[in-house]
Amino acid sequence: MKKTGEQKVTAQNADTENMETQNMETQNIKTQNMKTQATGTNNRNFRQISTQKLTQIVDPLLAWFDRNARILPWRENPLPYNVWVSEIMLQQTRVEAVKPFFARFTEALPDVQALAQCPEDRLLKLWEGLGYYNRVRNMQKAARVVVEQYGGRIPDRYEELIKLPGIGSYTAGAVASIAYGRAVPAVDGNVLRVISRISGYDGDIMKQSVRREFEKSLQEIMPEESQQPYGRAPGCRNHPGAFNQALMELGATVCVPNGMPDCGSCPVSMFCSAKEQGCQMELPVKASKKERRVEKKTVFVIRDSGHAAVRKRPSGGLLAGLYELPNVEGHLSSEEALEQVKRYGFTPLRIWPLAPAKHIFSHVEWQMTGYMAEVGDWGERSRADMGDILFVDPERTEREYPIPAAFAAYASYLSIRLGQDRYTED
Ligand code: ADE
Repeated sequence: MKKTGEQKVTAQNADTENMETQNMETQNIKTQNMKTQATGTNNRNFRQISTQKLTQIVDPLLAWFDRNARILPWRENPLPYNVWVSEIMLQQTRVEAVKPFFARFTEALPDVQALAQCPEDRLLKLWEGLGYYNRVRNMQKAARVVVEQYGGRIPDRYEELIKLPGIGSYTAGAVASIAYGRAVPAVDGNVLRVISRISGYDGDIMKQSVRREFEKSLQEIMPEESQQPYGRAPGCRNHPGAFNQALMELGATVCVPNGMPDCGSCPVSMFCSAKEQGCQMELPVKASKKERRVEKKTVFVIRDSGHAAVRKRPSGGLLAGLYELPNVEGHLSSEEALEQVKRYGFTPLRIWPLAPAKHIFSHVEWQMTGYMAEVGDWGERSRADMGDILFVDPERTEREYPIPAAFAAYASYLSIRLGQDRYTED
């Protein structure tokens, strides 16, 4: 498979909250000036982007994109809704992983109205495995605003788009330029990297102020506004949506983040300061992130001959409103685990330990141990006896209850497939 440089987590381990609302100006800044000193390039100190220099990349970049644009479902029919859904999905997930989710989501919810009306469990189920569930909750909030205030038509201006829940500068720019031909930039991580390298820019790209500076420079060199959406038809070569996507595509496939960029295939390498100075691997400069908090958990796979135990998570906080396998804090011994199963209200027949598993969120890491408990029949007991635990047919769980990918390792013991796993076998 062709190596791409999308700096993304796989769908299976992508879960967190706080997407575009996240404060990008990370605390704990250990600037990479240290790194540049260590590598002997600390005499380089570019904090300015030259638009004159950047102007030179426009034509070769557009010509390259015209020849090399990947054929992607949301590109073939760039309706505003399709562009919006795909851009939100692509924020934390690789193109290849997004494809099946995009197909399912847009088939189930083909327009803003359908999204606005979708019941929460179904919505979360459609997003299951993509992680970062606040993205889809915000999309639904935005869809409701679009229905109520814009008569169901997604607004075409950046200034209106950015007011919608979950839409930040990047997404507003992507939708306005790709779907409506507006001449506004869309600066994501790929674009920050490409422009940093071309300009030899060594400011911290995690700062909002830097992103704004990049946007300002790109605004000046954008192709002119178009009355058409971006498409692959002739005439679309000099389109604002083509320009934005060309920068992203170059970052994803050539000017990659991990490992050496493929400068031999780059259409703008002759204008690249980083290449000229041999410092491609040192740019962009990124402040290091805060360390993740570790949480230890014990997860229970509890089943009888036809049921498995699940429960709904609280309506606020991490993975709010999703379903989970019962779990408690800390790593329990077999005896403690047995007691816990009884406390849930079950009659354990057999219990045995399962392999440990790990799940990484953006701010937290779950280190899990697990137990499989075979329990006596559910019998005549009522729901009330089991507190918040549901004892349901695992097949129903797969269809109806959204369980985050964090539990995939243990859900697999019930033959419940989550997220991407469900799709690859279909
Ligand atoms: N990454 C996110 N959105 C993209 C797009 N529209 N084209 C290429 N890469 C992307």
